[in-house]
Amino acid sequence: MRPLIAPSILSADFARLADEAAVVSAGADGADWLHVDVMDAHFVPNLTLGLPVVESLLKATTTPLDCHLMIDDPDRWAPAYAEAGAYNVTVHAEAAADPVMVAKDLRAAGARAGLSIKPGTPLEPYVEILRHYDTLLVMSVEPGFGGQDFMPEVLDKVRAARRLVDTGHLQLLLEIDGGISASTIEAAAEAGVDCFVAGSAVYGADDPGRAVAALRARAASAHDRWRG
Ligand code: DX5
Ligand code: ZN
Repeated sequence: MRPLIAPSILSADFARLADEAAVVSAGADGADWLHVDVMDAHFVPNLTLGLPVVESLLKATTTPLDCHLMIDDPDRWAPAYAEAGAYNVTVHAEAAADPVMVAKDLRAAGARAGLSIKPGTPLEPYVEILRHYDTLLVMSVEPGFGGQDFMPEVLDKVRAARRLVDTGHLQLLLEIDGGISASTIEAAAEAGVDCFVAGSAVYGADDPGRAVAALRARAASAHDRWRG
């Protein structure tokens, strides 16, 4: 599988979201998913956007939406993003009251179900729960803001999750979010990440479309080295 690149529109111009989606989505080298950071100013200190904006974005792009819900009570709010047509909906393990039920609701609504863990949250308590999920999103910064420095220590959790997938204990796509750039993506790829979220490294580049292709090329060469 080629590495997936998911530009985060948190670093895009919110007044021009349709154009910002288009600029990274063009051609075979374009974005695989568009990462949409939903923040509620409770689970994280920042406030971004919610369901109405996601519904509009779904009409404006054919690129699958990867909705990352950094919100309290995802049990109540997450299924609507799946019903609206998001491709993957990720909730935080620290916020979900019944993460197994959330995953069932998301899948029943036709989406892939994602579970995210913050840098300080261990993987082990969630291994059985992850049997109900399609993606694991490992945060490599404290959620809330773009443009922070990558935390390499979270790669131990990626390596542990990779082993669980490669030995057949879990069937998961492994995603990483926070501080991914040309200088950090190879370490993440070598640890076993499949899907790379990048906000400032894409939208802060002179040519965001080329930045997507360049990040994917770096991740692919790291995957080749690591898999032999
Ligand atoms: C942070 C968000 C990220 C953010 C990443 O809480 O979840 O998706 O956009 O931004 P960069 O790539 O700039 O670290
Ligand atoms: Zn995110």
